[in-house]
Amino acid sequence: MSKGIIIAIDGPAAAGKSTIAKRIAQKLGYTYIDTGAMYRALTHKAIQSNINMGSDKDLADLLKHTEIVLVPEENGQAVWIDGVDCSEEIRSQEVTANVSEVAAHSTVRHLMVEKQRELAEGTGVVMDGRDIGTAVLPKAELKVFMTASVDERAERRFVENEKRGIHIPLAQLKEEIEKRDRADSERELSPLKMADDAILVDTTSMSIEEVANQVIMLAEKRMNQ
Ligand code: DC
Repeated sequence: MSKGIIIAIDGPAAAGKSTIAKRIAQKLGYTYIDTGAMYRALTHKAIQSNINMGSDKDLADLLKHTEIVLVPEENGQAVWIDGVDCSEEIRSQEVTANVSEVAAHSTVRHLMVEKQRELAEGTGVVMDGRDIGTAVLPKAELKVFMTASVDERAERRFVENEKRGIHIPLAQLKEEIEKRDRADSERELSPLKMADDAILVDTTSMSIEEVANQVIMLAEKRMNQ
């Protein structure tokens, strides 16, 4: 039996990448790797440890002494930092507001990419992030660039937050998403960018089911090629 293909899903903030990636991994029996969660985990630890977010060296040293483990769960993935489940904490407003700055540093990215490549070795994998198709796994058999209008993305994040009991005004969410997209797209190192050979999926007026089915269809096509 084949070990499976590599599926890279990139796109802007709150485009539904992880929801879709999780579903596809589950359906195909693949490993799911949420690379944003890894940058969030380091950001969370940096906040806890009072580390200067502007220092690549300090963050890289911290990362070398931090154990970040992505634990597969029935509904996706838990994120453990140094043996503690921090899945909720890494989604906090404070982490979200600082993660783009942390992710812009060169040594930090280098170490993260190394780890991400190791995790993807020898298995069918669905990896989501910003630079998977362009930098982390440029040989991925299927590259999807998933996007949606900023209004739609803010609305989805709003609904998701409300379900979790988190109340943040829609306008604020929209502003935060736009700010993060700008920072992630304009940074010097591996900016958010669609790979030349990626397939664009605009999910603005699609349901989760429709998007997942479309990507699974694309994956099955690639497997049979
Ligand atoms: O996907 P997310 O919103 O959880 O990602 C959090 C941040 O991490 C995002 O704003 C940019 C950064 N990131 C990155 O630079 N490269 C990746 N492959 C994934 C995320």
